[in-house]
Amino acid sequence: MGDMLVIFRFGWPYLRRYWVRFVGGILFGFLFGLTGGLTMAGVYMMLNRLDDPVHVQQLTQAKQAEEAKKASQESPLVKEFEADKKAISQELYQLADPWLPQSHRPIDWKQITGGLLLFPLLAMLRGFANYMTTYLMAWSGQRIVNDVKEDVFRKINSLSLDFFHKTTTAELISRINDDTGALSTCLRLGLSDLIKEPSTILILFIGLLCLDWKLTVIALLFGPLCVIPTRIVTRKIKAQGREDNSAMVGQVALAMESFQNVRVTKAYELGEEQAVLFRKAGQRGIYHMIKTVQARALLNPIIETLNSFGIGAVLLYAIWANVPFKTLGGFLFALILFFAPFKKLSSIQIYFTSAGMAMERLMGLFKLQSSVREAEHPVAMKEFRQGIEFRDISFSYGEGPVLQNVSFSVPRGQRLGLAGESGSGKSSLLNLFFRFYDPTSGRIEIDGAPIESLRIADLRYHLALVSQDVLLFNTTVAENIGYGKIGATREEIVTAAKEAYAHDFIQALPQGYDTPLGERGVRLSGGQRQRIAIARAFVRNAPILVLDEATASLDSQAEAEVQKAIDHLAEHRTVICVAHRLSTLRSMDKILVLQKGRVVEQGSFDELLSQNGLFTAMAARQSIFPQVAA
Ligand SMILES: Nc1ncnc2c1ncn2[C@@H]1O[C@H](COP(=O)(O)OP(=O)(O)OP(=O)(O)O)[C@@H](O)[C@H]1O
Ligand SMILES: [Mg+2]
Repeated sequence: MGDMLVIFRFGWPYLRRYWVRFVGGILFGFLFGLTGGLTMAGVYMMLNRLDDPVHVQQLTQAKQAEEAKKASQESPLVKEFEADKKAISQELYQLADPWLPQSHRPIDWKQITGGLLLFPLLAMLRGFANYMTTYLMAWSGQRIVNDVKEDVFRKINSLSLDFFHKTTTAELISRINDDTGALSTCLRLGLSDLIKEPSTILILFIGLLCLDWKLTVIALLFGPLCVIPTRIVTRKIKAQGREDNSAMVGQVALAMESFQNVRVTKAYELGEEQAVLFRKAGQRGIYHMIKTVQARALLNPIIETLNSFGIGAVLLYAIWANVPFKTLGGFLFALILFFAPFKKLSSIQIYFTSAGMAMERLMGLFKLQSSVREAEHPVAMKEFRQGIEFRDISFSYGEGPVLQNVSFSVPRGQRLGLAGESGSGKSSLLNLFFRFYDPTSGRIEIDGAPIESLRIADLRYHLALVSQDVLLFNTTVAENIGYGKIGATREEIVTAAKEAYAHDFIQALPQGYDTPLGERGVRLSGGQRQRIAIARAFVRNAPILVLDEATASLDSQAEAEVQKAIDHLAEHRTVICVAHRLSTLRSMDKILVLQKGRVVEQGSFDELLSQNGLFTAMAARQSIFPQVAA
């Protein structure tokens, strides 16, 4: 019950969009329940008609006498109502009677037709209702699930980088696929049953009461006992389900990592070792999964056994109280019909339990707030005019300080180089500029406006990033370049590729600009990938260019090609450039040297070389000496 509330609370906003079909599904579900009642009535009626007509007559007379006695004591309004009711049922009876066979009556074609068609017609109606409710529920259910999926995807994308660094990709995929999948299964398999079965139960229950209320009470004496095993099993399933989920996510994470790092996996022959880990993760999942299956498989027999006590009690009572066979036969038939939905409900319970758990996880996700947030009234940034100013920036990822009191400015059109040993905080500084993170103190300004006040999309629109790890998408060359600017035309893309010195090799590809690049652009060399990324930056045509070791992973031949493209891209732009290869920084107007998150030296390339400090030492290690520079 709790799970259903959770699912309903979560699903309501989505459900509302498709309510027409959804309500249709519910109505057909009720109709399905009603056909259960009709079948039961049909069986009872036919059993009645098999009876000896003299007996029927006696019974009817006795009943009429009883009703007449009752009627004489009732108010005129009730009498009128009763008379109406009787008239209607008599009319119905007269309409149906010639079409139904009756024992001790000569049979004719009408009775044969009616006798043959009664149950098929009922079955058809039941089947139609079943079909409609299943179809309508699946129709709305699948759309709901897709909407949820999209929202999960959007939500994950909206979260800041710190969230992604804390969470594995497998976990994120599991949120998108498995959790919404649990909801899908629950809606597809569970929901229509959840409507069909309880309405069947309700209708049959009323029918049973009408048939014989005493027998009904006796039959259901043991029913409430079913609650206990159901509760225990649900709790078990929940506990195991959580473990099962985390084990399975672990397994997927392992596979993803292994495939993504396939070169390392192969080079170090890690395949076997990882296969063992993979197997272990799977085994842990299986252990918990089997526990769930066991718990689930136990539930049905327990419920069935408890229900059978009811049948035994009914038989005992019937023998003791001399209940006539036709009442007992009809009643037992109805009772068996009545018990079936309970079994069904207990078996769909699992879907609700797992969906409930999944929805709790998703609600947790939706509650997360991005640590980098858009200002309440963000200012539109139309153009970049004066310059960039970092004022007393300090920053930490959570543990120790990564940047401490960093201040500098870059006037428009100037080029700033950032140097420093590995881990000194250069990339972190760029992360702050893009607002992937916000500084712990201090602020960054563009044209005098703090970047927190600007619309994030505007800010990033004015920045183009080329970094060491070029990330390409699994689409064509043209689309990969076009990602630089929404709605880039083919012409713009080709021009950009030419400017990035990428046009020639792109044309040599099998399908030119329409060649698919494979996952993460595996079909290209490092230098080629880099030039695609530069072409992307050209398309963006942003006034501020940010380079983070753009040539670090290339050999000297490729580096020369890429550097040429970068130099061309940097013309007429404001540039912030991080480089390990200090010779790259020669053309910078100013260079900052970072050490352990602090600016320790600054000046032009030649000034720094003559200062005999950290920069001079780093340069010497790369065989760059003052006299060479001079
Ligand atoms: N996501 C992160 N979470 C926690 N700490 C981080 C994270 N990214 C970087 N760091 C830490 O912050 C410090 C600065 O890292 P940063 O990447 O800025 O260095 P860098 O100067 O760019 O180094 P490199 O030249 O090797 O690229 C390092 O000590 C690193 O361990
Ligand atoms: Mg770095």
